This record gives sequence, C-alpha cells and structure tokens, in this order.
Amino acid sequence: MSKINTINIEKQIFDYLSQRLSPKRYEHSYNVAMLAIDIASNNCANVLKAQTAGLLHDCAKYMSDRGLISLLKDHKNFKYFKEISNVSPRLLHSFAGAIVAKEKFGIKDSDTLNAIRNHTLGRANMSVLERVIFVADSVSLDRKWMHAKRIRNLARTDLDKAFLETLKNKIEDVINDGSWLCPQTVNTWNWYVSNYKKNN
Ligand SMILES: [Fe+2]
Ligand SMILES: [Fe+2]
Repeated sequence: MSKINTINIEKQIFDYLSQRLSPKRYEHSYNVAMLAIDIASNNCANVLKAQTAGLLHDCAKYMSDRGLISLLKDHKNFKYFKEISNVSPRLLHSFAGAIVAKEKFGIKDSDTLNAIRNHTLGRANMSVLERVIFVADSVSLDRKWMHAKRIRNLARTDLDKAFLETLKNKIEDVINDGSWLCPQTVNTWNWYVSNYKKNN
C-alpha cells in the first residue's frame, strides 16, 4: 500500500468512527490502536496492521442488535451465530466489524480481518496479530480494571501469558455477572490452556 493510500484510509477510518461512535468508544478505539502498535512492535508483528485492526475493531459497535443480525444474515454460516443472535447479539459487533472493514474500507488482509472478527470470543490457534488486538482491547489505557496495567506491561514481554490472563479475566467476568458464556470462548480457553501447558 502506498503512503498516500495509507493516509487516505486512516482519514476515512477516523471520519467514520468519529461520526458513528460515542466519544468514549472513539477514544477507546484510538487507545486500542496505540497499545496494539506498542505490543505488536514488541512481538515482531506488523504495526500498520495492528493500527488498522485496533482502530476498526469496534467499528460496528454503534449498530443496533437488529442491525447487526441483519448485516450478518448472509454471513451466518459461522459457528454459534444462532446462539449468539438469540442470547447475546452485542457479541456480533466483532463479526460485523470485519465485514465493515472489508466492504467499507477495502481491507483485504485476512489477518487484519480475523483480528477484528475474533477480538471478543477468540478462537483456537490465533495469529500474533489476533492476540495483540484481543489483549489491547481489554487492557487499553481507558480500561481501569484491577490487572489492566500489569497485563499491558506483560504483553510487551510475554504475549502468550498476557493473552491467557486476559482470556481468563474475561471468562471470570462473564461468570461473575451470571451471563451466557459463548462456547467459542470456551473452545478458545481449552485450546490455549492445553497448548500453553505443552509448551511451558
Ligand atoms: Fe469490541
Ligand atoms: Fe473494544
């Protein structure tokens, strides 16, 4: 991609986000992008892709539940679509975000699109970029929960550990809240604990 194209896409993205997201969500998206660049640069990942995925990860967050389901109706062949639509449609914003990124901004890179798509539920065997965005979303500067700062620092030196801690905290939050835990998140957890143990 040429420099001029990159700058044009960045401007389009900032315009899109500022017109649709709340100021708080806009600031969060910016913070996620900045942290994603930081973590990516410390983990040999592509910083430009990290920036794009970070900025766009919540680009569909403004849509209503009905709007999300409607956008995804032609893409509903992904696992658990029906369950998520029925029980927790807000989770669809990550899947919808990947579609917006592709169709509105012409993002073709599958790693960037997967990082947007999987930032809420994760999946087995995620790429470095996918894990960078997953972690950055949970511990960006605007996140004030107990371990956010520590995991933010940890991600620079041990992305695997930071990812597992982030995922564990997410699952604990859902359970403590008495909410529905998507089977895809359980699959993500099971895949990573077995593989992390094997490698450590
Ligand atoms: Fe999100
Ligand atoms: Fe987010």
